[in-house]
Amino acid sequence: MKRIGILTAGGDTPALNATIRGAVVRANHRKVEIYGFIKGFNSLFNSRVPHVHLNPLYQEIPEIDPTKGGTLIGSSRDFVDPAKKDELDMIAGRLNKLGIEGLICVGGDGTLNGLQPLAERLPTVLAPKTIDNDLGLNYASEPDEWARVNDPAVKHGYRYKHSPSRAVFDLQHIVNYVTPGYATAVFVSASGVERLRTTAESHRRIAIIEVMGRHSGYIALGSAYGRPDLILVPEHALDLEHLVESVKQIYDLQKNVVIVCGEGVVDEQGRELGAETKSSDPAGNVALSGAAEALRTKLIQMIGDRYFQLYRRGESAREAIFTRKVGHTQRGGRPILFDRFYAAQLGAKAVELLAEGRNNAVSILQYNASRGFHVEGYDANRFRDRWGLIHARRMHPSLYDPVLMKPSRIGIDYLLPIFTDAIGEDDMEHMRQTLFAPGNLTQPYHSINTDINKRIRYLETETELKVKSRLEEAAMA
Ligand code: F6P
Repeated sequence: MKRIGILTAGGDTPALNATIRGAVVRANHRKVEIYGFIKGFNSLFNSRVPHVHLNPLYQEIPEIDPTKGGTLIGSSRDFVDPAKKDELDMIAGRLNKLGIEGLICVGGDGTLNGLQPLAERLPTVLAPKTIDNDLGLNYASEPDEWARVNDPAVKHGYRYKHSPSRAVFDLQHIVNYVTPGYATAVFVSASGVERLRTTAESHRRIAIIEVMGRHSGYIALGSAYGRPDLILVPEHALDLEHLVESVKQIYDLQKNVVIVCGEGVVDEQGRELGAETKSSDPAGNVALSGAAEALRTKLIQMIGDRYFQLYRRGESAREAIFTRKVGHTQRGGRPILFDRFYAAQLGAKAVELLAEGRNNAVSILQYNASRGFHVEGYDANRFRDRWGLIHARRMHPSLYDPVLMKPSRIGIDYLLPIFTDAIGEDDMEHMRQTLFAPGNLTQPYHSINTDINKRIRYLETETELKVKSRLEEAAMA
């Protein structure tokens, strides 16, 4: 193998550059050239295939900084449509012309679905990333538990439903224990929860903090480190009566309540609380927004003004209950040590998978008590259900205690190995040294895009090649 490509697809996460770095360092060792494709799959749809040579003379370019969030080669939610065979042939042809012998896609479940048709044309592997932590399986047989149920209201007349599990859940059987990006997202969310607490405390208010994660409650679960009073996850339908009772009990005691709510929380009928807008995401993901707001409306109705006025704790329920979203801050910025370290290993493993001649494989991060965290290769086909679809992993319900509305014992056991030493000394030192650097006030922000732009190369099209050769002929004549 002489030359491979790498692209980052889907929403950005903090550890993408670390994954790229891991891949480039391993490619250098193996004397393999590695090209980074600009803006994910978008680059492949462009006849000129904008790309950057990431390791000329087998040395990484200086712009690769594993401590920087985002991705130096850009990302997009474009994906490859398996029905468009001509387009796929065209992409394969372009990669062939560039001399690309294998492709690494850094992405989540959408990307893994998206790369399936590509893997039929050239060796393609996935290095995982997602703050949602939803790429993986609770146990190896989980894909078999997906069933299709008729639903005339949706596009194809059916939707997928997870049947009740028949497997005994064991943390050590999880496939891809945790994905790069998750730890940093939890770091930001938990810090946000901690900070909002003081406002809730001082002003006798009830805060509802919405965190990301789509239909998986991992980020909400991890936000327990910020010590909210109650956590709501999408995997357990909301029990409003129980919630209101718990809120009042806590408020009576401490005059403030902090609730974390995963953006995908559902009511007793299984309907998302957050308005679900039609997806603009070509991988088929739904856009969720407003779960916290919807919950606030319900709490205002159910608790009522009198409850707050009774003890002069507030004018009205509307004034006392407020919402905040952690938002995209949980997806951006410097990755913490845990993410950087394992993202790099997963990137390196992806190169190894290609070098070993594997196709349609995923580098995964496994955990067990005897070996700790370690990387392995996993056949992507084993993630697919019987119709070929890869589903986002949902948090195993046993990780959450629906009565306490907090992580269960097993949930705590899940979180501990990830977070106990997740923050590096340098993470804190970096902030100390850089945030209030006087230069920040005088120097404009210098975007990585400006530097990378200077390095972008293009595949020459047939017309360009013809013009070039004519010019050369003319010069010789
Ligand atoms: O999948 C990552 C994620 O951040 C989700 O948690 C969230 O629902 C979604 O992406 C937000 O997408 P966008 O950045 O396109 O609004």
